Amino acid sequence: MLQSYKLCAGTASLRVVRQHLHCQTQCIHSNPTNGRTHRMLQPLHLQSRLPDVGVTIFTRMSLLAQQHGAINLSQGFPDYPGPAALMEAMVDHLRAGDNQYAPMAGLPRLREAIAAKQAMLYGAHYDPDLEITVTAGATQGVYTAITCMTRPGDEVIVFEPSFDSYVPGIRLAGGIPVPARLDADYRPDWTALATLITPRTRLILINSPHNPSGRCWQTSDLDRLAGLLRGTNIALISDEVYEHMAFDNRPHASVAAHAGLRDRAFVISSFGKTYHVTGWKVAYCCAPRALSEEFRRSHQFITFCVHTPSQHALTDFMQARPDWYAELTAFYQAKRDLFRSAIADSGLHLQPCEGTYFQQVDYGHLSDLPDHDLARRLTVEGGVAAIPVSAFYLQGEDRRVLRFCFAKRTETLEEGAHRLRLAIKTIV
Ligand SMILES: Cc1ncc(COP(=O)(O)O)c(C=O)c1O
Repeated sequence: MLQSYKLCAGTASLRVVRQHLHCQTQCIHSNPTNGRTHRMLQPLHLQSRLPDVGVTIFTRMSLLAQQHGAINLSQGFPDYPGPAALMEAMVDHLRAGDNQYAPMAGLPRLREAIAAKQAMLYGAHYDPDLEITVTAGATQGVYTAITCMTRPGDEVIVFEPSFDSYVPGIRLAGGIPVPARLDADYRPDWTALATLITPRTRLILINSPHNPSGRCWQTSDLDRLAGLLRGTNIALISDEVYEHMAFDNRPHASVAAHAGLRDRAFVISSFGKTYHVTGWKVAYCCAPRALSEEFRRSHQFITFCVHTPSQHALTDFMQARPDWYAELTAFYQAKRDLFRSAIADSGLHLQPCEGTYFQQVDYGHLSDLPDHDLARRLTVEGGVAAIPVSAFYLQGEDRRVLRFCFAKRTETLEEGAHRLRLAIKTIV
């Protein structure tokens, strides 16, 4: 919307057009020979809503790994394909012409398959029509749940260290992130948590199995949380994208299965993690009717709907392979064991890994190098990339811990471990 025009000093043919929003400035230059005009944009005066946020650590470390030919054990994605039948189903649906908009909440047949899965694994009965929504990745599911619940000034509690999308999502919604520090064993400090809850607390975000630490919450943890939230108006977002990666016969304690929490919770999981297809970005959110209604009000304008052929292919595969989940747990447990034994004599201290596809190591007993510096040197000099765990803290707390992703082929893990053993000797 144009508000006013004025002449630019010294250039009669230039008019500066001020737009009414945040003084965007355009120069319109007239060509005297043909009378046409063209626009030269001058830099906008941007007031960032996320001024202290740069490119994520995952992008930076993956890029650095690429530049230096390093084995990339930083970003969490597999270097092997998803199941062949899933790929074939995708191609079949593409060819069959399933390529138009899906229903806003997701394909009914996929929502039914998700409902059947939640009932089979957790005894949780979600209505596929009203209580399950398919999202463009868990990132969008979490973002939508945050934004539909949070009003400016609301407080949202996040456990630290936490996945990097949570805090920016809270800030974009005008909320105030309130970090609840996990203890040295990455367990919640319930007493401290109780003191963080105020009348302004709107939401709590939890994540189990936990990225980056690999800790898994038990039902007793959910009981404690339910006790704290009883009688409050606080909603819960439970990020369970690693639900099938809880090891050593440890059942995944899903919020969907917890009678004291389920009614206030958005439970989110990701097909990307479960079927080795992180690039498909298809996930889902289960929540009781009123919460799902609110979720969908925002969801329909954030993305409207999700990639149709992927939804069909995932449905086919879920129906054909209900046994996949147990197989996946065993698959990742074997990878964890392989990687742990391959770096056991590296001098690094291996932290417990109860779940996820991440292994944390600490090295404070070997070196005082900040974790960002060590991660960088390992990548550049040692040829193996990791994530510095301080990136998962609001204030960048550095406990001298690195995170490695073991969702990699055996050869990749063995070569990565070999390079790591050598590099640790020379760098620290
Ligand atoms: C804890 C956690 N939540 C959410 C996501 C994002 O999942 P998606 O790729 O489905 O958006 C990740 C991916 O690394 C994650 O680790």
